[in-house]
Amino acid sequence: MVASGLKPGMTEVAPGWLAAHLLTALFTLSVTLWIALDLAALARDGRASPARLSALPLVAGAALAVQLLYGALMAGLRAGRVTDQWPLMNGAFFPGVTQSGRSIGATLFADPAIVHFIHRWWAWVVVALLVAMARALRRAGARRESVVLHSLFGTQIILGIATVLSGVSLWLAVLHQLVGALLVVAVVAGAHRLGQDRASDPARAMPG
Ligand code: HEM
Repeated sequence: MVASGLKPGMTEVAPGWLAAHLLTALFTLSVTLWIALDLAALARDGRASPARLSALPLVAGAALAVQLLYGALMAGLRAGRVTDQWPLMNGAFFPGVTQSGRSIGATLFADPAIVHFIHRWWAWVVVALLVAMARALRRAGARRESVVLHSLFGTQIILGIATVLSGVSLWLAVLHQLVGALLVVAVVAGAHRLGQDRASDPARAMPG
């Protein structure tokens, strides 16, 4: 069972537990998909060596995990409602903290304005890494995977901005979460595709 973090008198799930729940679910989905893709490659073309996770997808996946963590904190802290503006936040680039005098940890992970600021701008670090990954896929001949990746992160950015501008419309927020999960699937599938090339490249294969 999932521990909700609910305490007597509380009617909402604690943001930290919500984030742990979302990340655990998406990590489980990712590992399951990776194993399924290995098995599919074995059944399809007898490829016995499992795919290897190479550096670029690893870094892109880690950056995406940070973004997902902050996405869950956004939802848990209702940080989307801090502002309905983009790119500025209530007229300023940097919103300032909601409550002063808190520890750095509490400010980085529990201050709604700071969480919102990090989520909206870290997205571009994720996009830059996913562009690099999509280009690597294209070079590896996986044009379809590259197009899917571009389409999903583009849609996700537009949905995120639209969610903010709408004052967190429920349907836009739900779609943003759904496309976030699809993006995880696309990144895992892309990483697996790049990892297959690496596993079958004799120059990079481990001795023995
Ligand atoms: C690669 C880019 C992004 C990813 C993977 C991502 C992912 C997520 C995820 C997983 C959530 C949690 C949804 C939930 O648990 O209900 C979330 C929430 C949110 N995101 Fe993003 N996001 C991205 C970019 C953006 C951008 C660019 C913006 C706006 C400028 C944005 C605005 C929001 C808002 C306002 C919420 C809170 C919605 C709510 O209260 O339910 N996101 N994001």
